Amino acid sequence: MRIIIGENYRDMSRVAADMMASQIILKPESVIGLATGGTPIGFYKELVSLHNQGKFSFKQVKTFNLDEYYGLDKNNLQSYHYYMVENLFKHIDIDLNNINIPDGTAKDIEAECKSYEAKIKNAGGIDMQLLGIGINGHIGFNEPDIKFEAITHLVNLDEETIEANSRFFTSIEEVPRSAISMGIKTIMHAKKIILLASGNEKAKVIERMLNGPITPDLPASILQLHPDVTLIVDKEAGELIRE
Ligand code: PGA
Repeated sequence: MRIIIGENYRDMSRVAADMMASQIILKPESVIGLATGGTPIGFYKELVSLHNQGKFSFKQVKTFNLDEYYGLDKNNLQSYHYYMVENLFKHIDIDLNNINIPDGTAKDIEAECKSYEAKIKNAGGIDMQLLGIGINGHIGFNEPDIKFEAITHLVNLDEETIEANSRFFTSIEEVPRSAISMGIKTIMHAKKIILLASGNEKAKVIERMLNGPITPDLPASILQLHPDVTLIVDKEAGELIRE
């Protein structure tokens, strides 16, 4: 695993945006996997800024988001669909037909998951996947004890995740209890992975992910087996990394 420790959050975001921009410059029809949450907001800002400087276009890019809350309509302000429009899609020249986010309101969830997985396959697979990490080691919404072989599926969120994400809602009761998420197998099939982490509350999980056993108790530990992962952290999240 390549490890880059940025001076601060902005530095972490810039390095990641540069990598994603380079991917799109080298392959304009790239298939990109996207993440939500607090961590990548700076990354999206930097990516939009590079795009606005005319360095590259998203016209031929296809995107697949990692996950979406179950039951939230795409116009719901807390949905990941809304987040993506606000933080990225409305600022760039992407073709809206090329955006893919699981539909949290689908009537037949199993069919939605199957079709999401098939769309990724038909697009030729994900060239570069962006990931965040939960304090419990989740990637996407693959909570501890996940099956490593899982593909896109409905997951129940851990109490820890519900609590962490309640900061984006007016009350904890409003946080959905489940979500549709790409599985670990889906994520592991991405050709390249960038994992971002910021702040000292992530330091411990980053250290465990890098040096601990590969176990479903810490879903991100499976990334030790992926051939092309770049971990980009700020100083705080990287403070326990032994080099
Ligand atoms: P965060 O979430 O970026 O809001 O910390 C990361 C995650 O839960 O994967």
